[in-house]
Amino acid sequence: MVEKGNVTIRPAEGRLGVLMPGLGAVATTFVAGVEAIKRGLGRPYGSLTQMATIRLGKRTEGRCPLIRDFVPLADLNDLVFGGWDIFEDNAYEAALKAGVLERSLLEKVREPLEALRPMKAVFDPNYVRRLNGPNVKQGRSKMELAEMLMDDIEQFRRSTGASRLVMIWCGSTEVHQHPQEVHQSLTNFERGLVNNDPAIAPSQIYAYAALKCGVPFANGAPNLTVEIPALVELARERHVPIAGKDFKTGQTYMKTLIAPGLKARMLGLTGWFSTNILGNRDGEVLDDPASFRTKEESKLSVLHTILQSELYPELYGNFYHMVRINYYPPRGDAKESWDNIDIFGWLGYPMQIKINFLCRDSILAAPIVLDLALFLDLAQRAGMRGIQEWLSFYFKSPMTAPGLYPEHDVFIQLMKLKNTLRWMRGEDLITHLGLEYYD
Ligand SMILES: NC(=O)c1ccc[n+]([C@@H]2O[C@H](COP(=O)([O-])OP(=O)(O)OC[C@H]3O[C@@H](n4cnc5c(N)ncnc54)[C@H](O)[C@@H]3O)[C@@H](O)[C@H]2O)c1
Repeated sequence: MVEKGNVTIRPAEGRLGVLMPGLGAVATTFVAGVEAIKRGLGRPYGSLTQMATIRLGKRTEGRCPLIRDFVPLADLNDLVFGGWDIFEDNAYEAALKAGVLERSLLEKVREPLEALRPMKAVFDPNYVRRLNGPNVKQGRSKMELAEMLMDDIEQFRRSTGASRLVMIWCGSTEVHQHPQEVHQSLTNFERGLVNNDPAIAPSQIYAYAALKCGVPFANGAPNLTVEIPALVELARERHVPIAGKDFKTGQTYMKTLIAPGLKARMLGLTGWFSTNILGNRDGEVLDDPASFRTKEESKLSVLHTILQSELYPELYGNFYHMVRINYYPPRGDAKESWDNIDIFGWLGYPMQIKINFLCRDSILAAPIVLDLALFLDLAQRAGMRGIQEWLSFYFKSPMTAPGLYPEHDVFIQLMKLKNTLRWMRGEDLITHLGLEYYD
């Protein structure tokens, strides 16, 4: 037990099982990456839990441990993986098809990847219209499907001997959905599962099953999923942490770096045009306007919140913001994005910024999956339940308590994350005031 601090943290003993609905590009890049890192074949760049330090106390104290030495996190050697997919490919075959990692690397971790075979998925083609696969559960009701998932989870727990589990949604983006009556309370939701309410999405059935089994849940896609009163209520009732939504990678990550900088210097914005080409399966799903609508909303929300248009109408009250995603198969996972940003400064004189980011989507997303798995498990062992706003750092559309606007500025998010770790361990929070150095 770690007793010092504001919470008691149970030790990270035994194995941590990471369950993923969706064994596609992101999930397989994550699993193959962990297996490669364990064998010394690569380094965990991009991961805070593996690489980052945290400053403690005053700058003069020189205390700067690694985060993983400061809070008790699961060791990479203790991770075991499981998942579901509508396709029968094992993780080795899926990783080859995703085409993110080189075949020569995949060969070296072939054995553990081949051992990762997807369980039968809960799937509804009305929610992901561009895909169809054979590895799908059949059930009379959505409640029966949820119970099958709970059986899968318990079976996975037994067969791997995992002492703790987390679930990270790495499945496709579902069609856009507004919260409805069935989502408003747990009673309504459970009735809806029994009655096969069409407004309950597959991702929500997974989330329900996870929470019922006491398994923390994070949502890597922009789907509504766990962001509904019914599932927030269930998470609190079962003392389980939840987080979401939509991994913050690529273009949106760049946006949350640049926009706070413009606002910090009171530079105005007249327009921000963002376009992308990508050719992976995610791109194919997002080619469907209904799935794109979900992604678009997640991508668009960022700027207004960062720039606080209502506080600065003169600077940010009237900018034009557009986001486009174009499916372009030749590129595979090697996405390319262009941003044209029209800004204005002193006396209203216009200027432009151009960003051309040649990123690799899944290379940016994999360390996020790892960090979320380790931090959600930490939160669970620290007795933290419900929405974990301190994990906003990882998401395009961070979940917050009702009535709170989300914090999108990546540096505020990082401060929030690190201060939460300091708070857990009873260290002083860092305010960056620093007047004491000049007394
Ligand atoms: N790669 C990134 O940088 C990034 C960033 C933010 C969000 N995301 C989101 O993460 C998700 C995964 O991305 P990806 O690139 O791995 O996509 P992908 O298409 O390679 O993988 C998704 C997998 O989910 C499976 N799937 C779909 N519905 C399912 C269901 N109901 N149950 C089980 N499996 C299901 C698909 O068959 C597919 O294999 C997407 O929703 C994507 O929008 C990715």
